[in-house]
Amino acid sequence: MKYQDYKEYLSPVLAKASDLVMKSGKGCYMTTVEGEEYLDFVQSIAVNALGHCHPKVTEAAKGQIDKLISGSFNLVNYEETLKLAERISRAAPGELNVTFFSNGGAEATDGAIKLAKSATGRPGIISFKGSFHGRTVAATAVTGSNSKYRKNYEPMMPSVYFTSYPYCYRCPYGTTCDECSLQCMRELNEIFENLITPDSVAAIIMEPVQG
Ligand SMILES: Cc1ncc(COP(=O)(O)O)c(C=O)c1O
Repeated sequence: MKYQDYKEYLSPVLAKASDLVMKSGKGCYMTTVEGEEYLDFVQSIAVNALGHCHPKVTEAAKGQIDKLISGSFNLVNYEETLKLAERISRAAPGELNVTFFSNGGAEATDGAIKLAKSATGRPGIISFKGSFHGRTVAATAVTGSNSKYRKNYEPMMPSVYFTSYPYCYRCPYGTTCDECSLQCMRELNEIFENLITPDSVAAIIMEPVQG
C-alpha cells in the first residue's frame, strides 16, 4: 500500500511530514505496512505519553466501547467522566478544579482563549512566533509558525500580538546567552508600550516545548 495512491482523497491543507504508511505500533515503536520498524519520538505530539497499545489503555478503551459508545455530555452524565473530572481536580494545582472536556488540542486552545477573555474581560492575546496551536479559527489566529496556515482565512481574530521565544539554542536575534541582555523580554515590553497595554491582555499563550 502506498500513500501516493490515496493522496487524492485527502485534503491538501494538511501537509505531511512523511509518506510512511503505518500498520501497527507497540510501546515506542511503529511498524510500516512493509514491515519496517521506526522508533517513535513524536506521535500525537507529546500526548501519547504511554506509547502505543499499552495493555491497560487498550483494555480500558475496549471495555468502554462494549459499555457505551457515546453519551453526549450536554445531555446526560456519565459515571467515568464524572470520576475523571474529580481526579483531574485533585491532581491540578491551586484553584484549577473544574474541567471542560474537549476533543483535541485546537478545541482546547479555543476554550482557553474564551476562558481567558471571559475571566478577565480583556480582549488581547499574546502568542509567539513559531508557535502552532491548531486548525480552528481562533487557534489559527494565535498560530505563528507558517503563513500558509493563515492564507485565505484573513482577517483573523483581532488583538493577537506575536513576540519571540527566549530560544537560546537558535536565538531569533542571532546572539548568545551571555550577550543577549534579554532582548526577547525587551520585545515583549515593546508590544506593551507600542501596541497593547498589559491591562488589555487576557492571556499569553505559549507551548512549553515547541513541536
Ligand atoms: C501545541 C499544540 N496545540 C494544539 C494542537 C492542535 O491539536 P489537535 O490537532 O488535537 O487539534 C497541536 C497539534 O499539533 C499542538 O502541537
